Amino acid sequence: MTLVPERHAWRPESIVGDRVVLRRHRAENLKAFMRWYSDPEIARLTRYQQGPLSPDEIQRFFHGRIMGADFLAMGIHVRDTDRLIGSCAFSQLDGDNGSTLYHITIGERDSWGQGFGSEATELMVDHAFTQLALHRVALTVFQFNARAIRAYEKCGFKIEGRARDAIYRDGRFWDEIHMSILADEWEARQAQG
Ligand SMILES: CC(C)(COP(=O)(O)OP(=O)(O)OC[C@H]1O[C@@H](n2cnc3c(N)ncnc32)[C@H](O)[C@@H]1OP(=O)(O)O)[C@@H](O)C(=O)NCCC(=O)NCCS
Repeated sequence: MTLVPERHAWRPESIVGDRVVLRRHRAENLKAFMRWYSDPEIARLTRYQQGPLSPDEIQRFFHGRIMGADFLAMGIHVRDTDRLIGSCAFSQLDGDNGSTLYHITIGERDSWGQGFGSEATELMVDHAFTQLALHRVALTVFQFNARAIRAYEKCGFKIEGRARDAIYRDGRFWDEIHMSILADEWEARQAQG
């Protein structure tokens, strides 16, 4: 299997939804990444390691991965205002097996729980199946991250397994939950409307 080779289809300038627009990241977005990834609560929800990334690590993450060739990363903007509130991405794009790993962080805490994350995820999953012709989108999430699990379930992701006690946080062990959605499941959801 070959990923769609056309650059504009593979890494679009923007993907427009009802309430969010996904846009290619620009160099100036680093400022927002610095803020988001210094936030201890973002670190608690997303990192295996204790505590946030250092400023140097955030810069390396931004330049090496977010802006890098192997990552398909998009900024999440509120459509009405164009405010940048977060970032979503595919990593480990695997053309041989038609699969990828999905990541999302809404860094602006005041934008949590308003449906932006679910819509951004749906736009990315749709892109994966309709433009990139992938077969499977997978992700991992910590057991205690109920908001994220709910958002992923709303988009059609199913729990397919768990790495038991893989993360120690807030004084106890939690599972790392593995979720995925397959192309035919996405098509069936679209057909249902
Ligand atoms: C996870 C994240 C992307 C979800 O996006 P979001 O815009 O906040 O989520 P949505 O509003 O689309 O959906 C959240 C759902 O979870 C529900 N929810 C919120 N808090 C909850 C909780 N504590 N327990 C259970 N459900 C909860 C909401 O009610 C909503 O479901 P509903 O529409 O059925 O009512 C976003 O919150 C985020 O980036 N958080 C910080 C970083 C993070 O956790 N990233 C994911 C790492 S795997």
